Amino acid sequence: TPIVLSAGCGRGQSNPTGDAATSGSATGGRRPLPVPPLAKSTVDSSGVRHFTLTAAAGTTEMLPGTSTPTWGFNGPVLGPTIRARRGETVAFDITNDLPEATTVHWHGVHVPARFDGGPHQTIEPGARWEPTWTVNQPAATLWYHPHPHGSTEKHAYRGLAGLFVVDDDEADALDLPKTYGVDDIPLIIQDRRFTADGALDESDPTDVGLLGDTIVTNGIAGAHLKVGTEKVRLRILNGSGGRMYNLGFADNREFAMIASDGGLLAKPATMTRIALSPGERAEIVVATGESPVLLRAFAFDDHAGVAAGEAAKFGLADIFDILELRPAANPGRSAALPTTLATLPRLDPSAAAAQRRFELRWFMINGERMDMNRIDFTPTVDSTEIWTVRNVDNWPHNFHVHDTQFRILDIDGAAPPPELSGWKDTVYARPGATIRLTLRFSEYADPTYPYMYHCHLMLHEDQGMMGQFLVLEPGQRPAPMPMAMPPM
Ligand code: C2O
Ligand code: CU
Repeated sequence: TPIVLSAGCGRGQSNPTGDAATSGSATGGRRPLPVPPLAKSTVDSSGVRHFTLTAAAGTTEMLPGTSTPTWGFNGPVLGPTIRARRGETVAFDITNDLPEATTVHWHGVHVPARFDGGPHQTIEPGARWEPTWTVNQPAATLWYHPHPHGSTEKHAYRGLAGLFVVDDDEADALDLPKTYGVDDIPLIIQDRRFTADGALDESDPTDVGLLGDTIVTNGIAGAHLKVGTEKVRLRILNGSGGRMYNLGFADNREFAMIASDGGLLAKPATMTRIALSPGERAEIVVATGESPVLLRAFAFDDHAGVAAGEAAKFGLADIFDILELRPAANPGRSAALPTTLATLPRLDPSAAAAQRRFELRWFMINGERMDMNRIDFTPTVDSTEIWTVRNVDNWPHNFHVHDTQFRILDIDGAAPPPELSGWKDTVYARPGATIRLTLRFSEYADPTYPYMYHCHLMLHEDQGMMGQFLVLEPGQRPAPMPMAMPPM
């Protein structure tokens, strides 16, 4: 049974830079990792699966013994894990009990544009929103978070985020750890700063946004996880606004990456580090071993491509201990990992119907900031496109596209590494990098409601490093709805 959020007591951890071993000893002082509960749902007589979400304010013991005002869905912080199968129709009844308008965006989900939950689907305080669609994408770890234009970073920072897990028959047939909360554990990793009275500190954003000096995992600082099996699967989300993580284990043990943003990789990739920029996910399977081990965010040796002298100001030199894995004395058996996981379609760049270019620089894409009344382009439904994304800045940025999962053709002309070879919806763009993506917008044409593409460093997104496109039927004409832009 999932553990309830914000329980327990102990010592937290806060460790901006330097010696990670100073925070949280190998055995003591940590609280049990809260596991977000699975969202309750009911299936009606026509087979539609119904979920209810309410966004509201509460308080959370992010730091032990400290009550922090937070926002959450169906609870004081974060939200329940939504779980649905490919082929199922899902329907949501979402209520906003917050003092501000917000939205609920389904990140990585293939969804009709009018139910995408982007800046065009605002839910006013006290109002409800009822999106519905049929799940049609491979098994994956996706997520949901607010997307109100100009306030996404703050709404997520205050605690609004949750996972959305899609299941399918192909993934079920694989012998992978899959018992939720037992050997299949979600990890939402976020950074926070606290004021002297324990409130979330929203002051002094850096050029990449609010950088926290404390890491919270599933809503608390300083967590441990008892693992009763030989192997554990971690579904990791970088849910931070602007912080990048270079994750690995303190003893440099190997782990297998099995899935990226949009689903399983073709085969497990053995690695010792996985870098995640804001919004990206990775599923890994690791042997729990015989003694406790720390999941750690390491400094980026290569500064993630940023000039060495600038790396510290973007948080790229920081080291944090995130979670202690504590093995059981007599662990349950875990199967050997399958050697192949999924069949991914081959990429054929010559089939592309359109090529587009995106230059990331200084809060802008192609020299423009987001305008909710400007449609930047109109892909044709069910056609393949190639997008070339260039970070022409000396800042870190990433690139996220709504509605679809893309594949990376190449990065600076070279084939992507294993962790970037599967389905992706968000990709880190190092300063100077050129990344070619191939993507397809299927099923849902809509002349009225656009989808977004943007940098997922949430401050950059809020500042307008975002654009929008309408997916149209051949010959269809755009008819976008006029929108009021929130004051910046
Ligand atoms: Cu995760 Cu447009 O967002
Ligand atoms: Cu950016």
